[in-house]
Amino acid sequence: MTAPKKKLYIKTYGCQMNVYDSTRMADVLAPIGFEAVDSPNGADMVILNTCHIREKAEEKVYSDLGRMRNHKRDKEKAGDGKMLIAVGGCVGQAEGAEIMRQAPYVDIVLGPQSYHKLPDMVQMAYRDGGGVVDLSFPELDKFDNLPAPSAATGRSAFLAVQEGCDKFCTFCVVPYTRGAEYSRRADDVLSEAKALVAAGVMELTLLGQNVNAYHGVGPDGKDWSLARLISALAKIHGLERIRYTTSHPRDMSDDLIALHGYEKKLMPYLNLPVQAGSSNILKRMNRKHTAEEYLSIIERVRAVRPDIALSSDFIVGFPGETDADFNATMALVETVGFAQAFSFKYSQRPGTPAADHAAQVDEDVKQTRLELLQGLLNRQQAAFNRRTVGKRVQVLFDKPGRFEGQLIGKTEYLQSVHVKNAAHLMGQLVDIDITDANNASLTGVLPEQGSDVPQTYIPDHKTTPSEERLHGV
Ligand code: 5AD
Ligand code: SF4
Repeated sequence: MTAPKKKLYIKTYGCQMNVYDSTRMADVLAPIGFEAVDSPNGADMVILNTCHIREKAEEKVYSDLGRMRNHKRDKEKAGDGKMLIAVGGCVGQAEGAEIMRQAPYVDIVLGPQSYHKLPDMVQMAYRDGGGVVDLSFPELDKFDNLPAPSAATGRSAFLAVQEGCDKFCTFCVVPYTRGAEYSRRADDVLSEAKALVAAGVMELTLLGQNVNAYHGVGPDGKDWSLARLISALAKIHGLERIRYTTSHPRDMSDDLIALHGYEKKLMPYLNLPVQAGSSNILKRMNRKHTAEEYLSIIERVRAVRPDIALSSDFIVGFPGETDADFNATMALVETVGFAQAFSFKYSQRPGTPAADHAAQVDEDVKQTRLELLQGLLNRQQAAFNRRTVGKRVQVLFDKPGRFEGQLIGKTEYLQSVHVKNAAHLMGQLVDIDITDANNASLTGVLPEQGSDVPQTYIPDHKTTPSEERLHGV
C-alpha cells in the first residue's frame, strides 16, 4: 500500500516569477510525497512565497502568517499531526532569521535561490522541530537542480529564462533579494519549452527580472541574445505564441526590436517599464536612460510593429519628485499612449539608496499623483480596447467564464475576451469578432460563416500544423 499523500498549500504573492517558482516548489516536493491543495485548512505544509517589492506586499505576509498559525494550532489540537510553515521568496531572503524571531511558529525560511534544497529542509524541520534557514546564493544553477517541470495543466505557461538584476535602480530591492543577473543555458530552456508544448502548452511567457538582458550560452557555445532564443523557440512545432516580461529599456537591443517586425509567433505586446517621465528623476533612480531615449525606443518598436500594445510600470512620488517632474510623467504617457500599465506609489525599501533620501514626498501628494496618473492610464486602456471593437482577433481560450458555456481567453495584445456559447473551444486558438469593450475586457462572438471582417493582424501559420485547431469544431 502506498502512503497517503501529504497536503501542500502554497500561497503566491507578487510577480509572475513567483508564480513560476511556486510551481517548481510543488515539483520539487512531489517526489517526497506532497500534493498541492487549494486551502491551508488541514495542510501538512504551507509555503508563503512572498514579495518584498513594496511595503504593502510585505505587510500582507505578516498578517497571513498569523492566520497560518491558527491553522497550525487547529490541526495539532485535532491530533491531526504537524503543519510545517515555510516562508519563501523575497521577504524570506530579505528578512531571514528575523522572521523566526517575530513568528517563532515558522519552521523554514528560504530565499528564491534555495528551492531545490526544500526536500532536505523539510526532513530537517521534521527532525529538529523547525528552525531551518537557507538564504545562500549558490554558485550552481538552481535550475539545474530542479526536477523537470510536471505536466502543465493549461495552454499558457511561464518559463523562467533569466533571474536577478545588476541594474541597481535606487528604489528597488530586486538586486538584493534575487541576486546577480543570471541567464539559463539555451538548451535547457529549449528542452523545458518542448516538454511544456508536448503537455499541451501553446503559449509561453519567458520570464526574467531583466529578461531582455538574457545572454545564455547557446548550443554553439556562443552567448545567445533573447532574440536568438525566441527565434529558436519559435521553431517548436505546436508552440503558437511567445511573450516575454519584464524588460529594461537599456537592453532593448536592435535584434529584439527587429524580431517584433517579422516573427509572427512573437506577440505584439511589450511591457517596457519607464518608471518616470522626468529625465532628472530617471537619473536619480539610476535608470541609465533619459525620457527622450525611452521615446526613441518606442518609436523604433512601433516602426516595425505599428499595432503593438505597449505597457509600462510607473512610480509616483519618488524622493524629490516635484509637480513639474510629475507633469513630465503625464506628458510621456500622453505621448506614448499605453494599452495597459502598472503604477505605484513610491515605497521606501530598507537597504535601498533612495530610502535614505531626505526629500521624501508626502503620502497625500503621492496619492493625488497616483490617482491622476491612473485616471489617464485607464482612459488610454479603455480607448485601446474600444479600438478593437469591430475587428477580428485571435483568442486563446484557457479559462471558463462565470456563465454556463462562457469562456475567457486572451488576444494577441493580452486583452481578456469573454465569449458565450463557446465551451467546445476550450484550449483552442480561434478567430473572434469583437463586439463590445469596457475598460478591462472585451466581448466577442464567433465569426459567422463567410463573414468578412477586417483583421487587425493576419497571423502566418505556415510553419504550424494547427489550422484545424484554429477554427475549432
Ligand atoms: N516603490 C514602488 N514601486 C516599486 N517598484 C519597484 N520598487 C518599488 C518601490 N520601492 C515597481 C517598479 C517596478 C515594479 C515591478 O515595481 O515600477 O517596475
Ligand atoms: Fe529593480 Fe528592474 Fe531596476 Fe533591476 S532593472 S533594479 S529589477 S527596477
